[in-house]
Amino acid sequence: MSLSGREVVLGVGGGIAAYKACDLLRRLQDHGYLVTVVPTPAALNFVGKATWQALSNRAVYSQVWENVAEIPHIHLANNADYIVIAPATADLIARIAHGRADDLLTNVVLASSAKVLLVPAMHPQMWLNAATQENVETLKRRGMVVLEPDNGRLTGKDSGPGRFPETSRIISEFAEFTGASSDLLGRRVLITAGGTREAIDPVRFIGNRSSGKQGFALAQAAAARGALVHVIAANVSVPIPEGIEVSWVESAKQMQSDLEERFPNCDVLIMCAAVADARPAQVNEQKIKKDSLGSLSLVATPDLLATVAASKKQGQVIIAFAAETSDHIAQAQEKLSKKGADLLYVNDVTDGAVFGSDLTHGSIIDHSGIIARFIESSKDTLAHELLNQVVLRLS
Ligand code: CTP
Repeated sequence: MSLSGREVVLGVGGGIAAYKACDLLRRLQDHGYLVTVVPTPAALNFVGKATWQALSNRAVYSQVWENVAEIPHIHLANNADYIVIAPATADLIARIAHGRADDLLTNVVLASSAKVLLVPAMHPQMWLNAATQENVETLKRRGMVVLEPDNGRLTGKDSGPGRFPETSRIISEFAEFTGASSDLLGRRVLITAGGTREAIDPVRFIGNRSSGKQGFALAQAAAARGALVHVIAANVSVPIPEGIEVSWVESAKQMQSDLEERFPNCDVLIMCAAVADARPAQVNEQKIKKDSLGSLSLVATPDLLATVAASKKQGQVIIAFAAETSDHIAQAQEKLSKKGADLLYVNDVTDGAVFGSDLTHGSIIDHSGIIARFIESSKDTLAHELLNQVVLRLS
């Protein structure tokens, strides 16, 4: 479904993330939306009217006292199909929650029946403050959609929840909000998640630190964009979102047989799981006593991705993941070619970072080089950007 040509009011609050809203405006225009920017007077301290007017090609006002003859708040309120407020500061959220009408944007919100999406961005303590949280609850109760801010580094040294999400995530969430999220409609997306375990005896195993968070972030994002999602999950420790089919496996061997069965029928394979590279040569049926645990003989497990990629049909898209601690891009480039994938996300896992975290640090590459870099971005943001890349390749 295309919503191209729809009118959007982009409300901009007075926070440093106002400059990131310039990119959001551009991307909304790329999707065909007609955007009028309504900054609060405070927002103009960060990005001036001239920038908004030049980017939107439209007149920009922030007070009801400008261009009074046209009664801009009523005109904008009636004309808007959607209102997006990004960044929504603590003060702006409070004013909307209390029905205030002390600048053009709050007047428009109050006078409009358009659907409203808020993208909060502020210092973590302001976001977590009971006053802000109660105001957010009030807005949600009234039917507005309030995005969870990203968790990560803020403008200063602090980090935590309150970061303005990457534009790609806001665009995807906006597509979901408008009902236009159909870019993966009916596509079959197969995802492996978590980390395999290779039994040594009934008690012990060889495993890894993968939690499954990234795999399920991808699953949720793909489902939100209309895909039919199946996850092959190995030992994950995260809640399973609704609407996603899951098969549970333990070892690389079990993952391989499930993967080989499902791969021919998928449009997209995302190999997010950390597959053990080796397993004990034999599994002891009895618990091995500690005195006999001196050494372990291992045999290599097959490369699951390379095996299925060898039978890749035209039109199928494959994404690999890699975890590296040094020389990331060169190693990743080699893996991409060797394994027959179209795209690869390379995680920088120096010091065990990334595992179990909500944040990720790395780069998406394809055969021509780096496509995007992520520095302490949320796994949801990465998920949506990877899916954007998938959509480009599927079409
Ligand atoms: N992979 C796989 N089968 C394996 C090992 C890895 O399918 N036996 C997949 C992973 O799911 C991932 C990609 O290959 O998508 C890269 O995994 P990674 O562990 O980074 O690379 P390895 O091939 O295991 O190489 P190394 O451990 O030597 O870095």
